[in-house]
Amino acid sequence: MALPSRAVVPAPPDPILGLSEAARSDPRPWKLDLSLGVYVDESGGVPVMGSVLDAERQLAERRDSKAYLPIGGRPTYGAAIRDLLFGPGNRMARWSSSVTVQTPGGTGALRVAADFLAQSGANRTVWLSEPTWPNHPQLFRFAGFAVRGYPYLDDAGRRLDLDRLVGTLRTARRGDVVVLHGACHNPSGVDPDADAWRAIADVLEERALLPIVDLAYQGFSRGIREDADWADGLARPGLEFLVCSSCSKNFTLYNERVGALTLVAADAARATAALSHLKVAIRANYSNPPAHGADVVESVLGDPRLRDRWERELAAMRRRIQDNRSALVDALESAGLAGDWEPLRAQRGMFALLGLTSGQVARLRDEFAVYAVTGGRINVAGLTPAGFPRLVEALRAVTAD
Ligand code: LMR
Repeated sequence: MALPSRAVVPAPPDPILGLSEAARSDPRPWKLDLSLGVYVDESGGVPVMGSVLDAERQLAERRDSKAYLPIGGRPTYGAAIRDLLFGPGNRMARWSSSVTVQTPGGTGALRVAADFLAQSGANRTVWLSEPTWPNHPQLFRFAGFAVRGYPYLDDAGRRLDLDRLVGTLRTARRGDVVVLHGACHNPSGVDPDADAWRAIADVLEERALLPIVDLAYQGFSRGIREDADWADGLARPGLEFLVCSSCSKNFTLYNERVGALTLVAADAARATAALSHLKVAIRANYSNPPAHGADVVESVLGDPRLRDRWERELAAMRRRIQDNRSALVDALESAGLAGDWEPLRAQRGMFALLGLTSGQVARLRDEFAVYAVTGGRINVAGLTPAGFPRLVEALRAVTAD
């Protein structure tokens, strides 16, 4: 017997992780890797937060067993995540009931959500923002969904086009699934404001659409509690939805694969029943989650001293990214590069979408060793002082003709 014929034809490299591997093996010492969404500090390293390291030290002394976790992870972790998402008063609790399962990262949460929905009879059509994180379409297709796009940005690619977004979702079939980025849209950094979230919730309700909120960057826009316009928008009687959250970025726990899937249902009986199906989806996939990352998150959130330190560390990361954003706009404008750069200053999170063609992105990489993702998505945190002039000069060259 032999492998299927398509299995022995190489697949294209992943548009983000494959690019980051290529950057790592690029021998040019002046290379500038702006591909992967990880927080990079002034020295160009990917640091681990001090609060996280402290929690790990405490855990190392305490841990006495490596027994399996329950299928959905520790319930105490789930409760801590819901407090983080919805605030200590839980803005959802008035109208609904929620359950949380621990997942391997935000991607694990998305895949469990997709499997759960496909297995429990949801419409197998998912609507994704255009543009979106390149793994979204692949992940939902693997789970058996047809993928449709809703317009997200205006023609210049700098601001939200709410009218077109809402107009397109109005054409969706009742019961279709819609993925929304909760904060710090990947790849554009353009987020709906509170009014826009209300308008989006109106169309979700009107068309009975099922939202999945992808929340990988909570705390990177305005703050842990402030990054909640999405939650205020969706908190209304009867509106049921899923939230796929990640602790990779806001706890610097990327390789521990820690995240969560939270399901908000209209009442406790519906939430409990749905939880039983989530557990089946998990058991059939990876059985039960790894413990370490979630234990760290729970320890940080549950210890007032560590939590305070964590919030301060996160605030410093957020400030540095915003400062980098401003410095980038200043550098592009003072170099006289043609384009409307000003809106980038107000965008949020790790990414800026420069709006480049695939040819320009390839030239950046091949001729200048500058690594950007499709469309010219760059990780703003990856810009160190030496990086700004390099990026500006490379952009000047590739956008010249
Ligand atoms: C990114 O968009 O760069 C991150 O979310 C990392 C990833 O897994 O793609």
